[in-house]
Amino acid sequence: MFTLRCLVDNHPLDAAIFHSEHGVAFAIETPSGQVLFDTGQSGEVLVHNAARMGFDLRQVDALAFSHAHYDHTGGLRAFLKHSRPGLPLYANPDLFRERFAFHEGQYRSIGLRMKPADLTRHLDLRLNAEPVEIFPHLWTTGEITPRAEFEGRSPHHYIQENKRWLPDPYRDDMALVLEAKSGLVVICGCCHAGLLNTLAHVRRVFDQRIAVIIGGAHLADVNPATLEHAIAVLRATSAGHLPDLFLNHCTGERALAVLAQAFGENVHPCPAGTVLRFE
Ligand SMILES: [Fe+2]
Ligand SMILES: [Fe+2]
Repeated sequence: MFTLRCLVDNHPLDAAIFHSEHGVAFAIETPSGQVLFDTGQSGEVLVHNAARMGFDLRQVDALAFSHAHYDHTGGLRAFLKHSRPGLPLYANPDLFRERFAFHEGQYRSIGLRMKPADLTRHLDLRLNAEPVEIFPHLWTTGEITPRAEFEGRSPHHYIQENKRWLPDPYRDDMALVLEAKSGLVVICGCCHAGLLNTLAHVRRVFDQRIAVIIGGAHLADVNPATLEHAIAVLRATSAGHLPDLFLNHCTGERALAVLAQAFGENVHPCPAGTVLRFE
């Protein structure tokens, strides 16, 4: 049995109980250990919601980052105050590259706020662009390639290389994959590599049916034609068994409504406080 808890999201399941912020964090409980996937933005929401869900952050055995952006990694300092020392951290080797958002004529740093030397004092860094099995049946996707379909891009996101500003290639972006009895459960952070690219990569690497898709699908800014295309591809690649979708964070309200129109009861929100179980 696997249990997934949404600890941080843009929306709370119940505002009287849970806090929310722009960001995401999931805890995935496997028979062999607990993995925290992302930490949200502030740390305050992570710590508060974990306590409200009866989830002890000291039980976390491994940490994984979907990518470097502050809304996924900003809660790390707070997490480290509540976690056991020396945990492994799984992420792409490009995690430490500085990342920027360009707004109102200024580049603002929006990546990981801790330096590698800071992290190695607390964590065992396991950076790998290839898929890695964290615990039996729970994997990282590794770097998501190729990217034939549209990506989850923002025109404001940049990196700096040889003193030139370049669009962020989001090489650090990855998801987690749980091998459940009913099929694969894909857990996304922000899907900058693109939802369809992520799913195609998972199908190719793991060679099984995708039963469930969870997390941020980065469809908030896509135009209606692109959304229709995404729906057509999801349908065409599901071989008559549409996956269940539990989407949150950067998916966008409009995209969630359009997906619900297309796929009906298979589509659900996934606010902070959500608990899902898989055999
Ligand atoms: Fe992001
Ligand atoms: Fe995000």
